[in-house]
Amino acid sequence: MKRQVLLITLALLVMLPSLAQQKKSPSFDEVITSRRSIRSYDAKKKISEAEVRKLLTAVQDAPSWANQQPTKYYVAITPEKLSAVQDMVGGNKSRIIGAPVLIVSTYERGKSGFFQGDPANEVGDGWGAYDNGLSNCYLVLQARAMGFDTLIMGMREADKLRKLFSIPENETVMAVIALGYRAEEPRRPVHRSLDDIVKFF
Ligand SMILES: Cc1cc2nc3c(=O)[nH]c(=O)nc-3n(C[C@H](O)[C@H](O)[C@H](O)COP(=O)(O)O)c2cc1C
Repeated sequence: MKRQVLLITLALLVMLPSLAQQKKSPSFDEVITSRRSIRSYDAKKKISEAEVRKLLTAVQDAPSWANQQPTKYYVAITPEKLSAVQDMVGGNKSRIIGAPVLIVSTYERGKSGFFQGDPANEVGDGWGAYDNGLSNCYLVLQARAMGFDTLIMGMREADKLRKLFSIPENETVMAVIALGYRAEEPRRPVHRSLDDIVKFF
């Protein structure tokens, strides 16, 4: 009996430090409230291709018009491609210089918003942009759940990015998303009041 107690105590002593080190997954609320646009990245912290793949697997679950899944991603992860993309985001360059991954998002036109080849309503191809935003929303939230940070950039040079990644002409280039680890704590921006943006009837 004494021997058993001793063994269990020893096992606990060995396991406790590693249990304490294990990261607790953040709650959905924590993901939502801690996600912020990050404009300064820790260049020492890298993200592997396997981690980016895991991140994008979550994006595959995003909803889209008639499940058309029009969003595509072009991932810059090598030093050469990262440096090229950094020069294609205008004034954003200084904000994302330390980010180890830059992701260009596009959507294929003529898929979302169409029924039997014709626009289903007045929004037309705009539904492709809508679906792209949904996919990117999954991306930035999943990134936060994995402990990463992001910056969505609408200020980017579409033509240069198209050339760099050989993006087909039937795809519209949307945001470039920086992925990395925050190097500074962001401030929560001012938000419009709920009564300003919602009307109940
Ligand atoms: C479509 C879109 C385009 C954006 N483009 C830029 C950009 O080019 N540069 C930038 O610094 N932030 C950009 N942002 C980030 C917004 O400024 C940011 O989301 C907003 O100020 C709210 O702050 P938060 O993300 O920290 O909550 C963009 C966000 C979205 C959704």
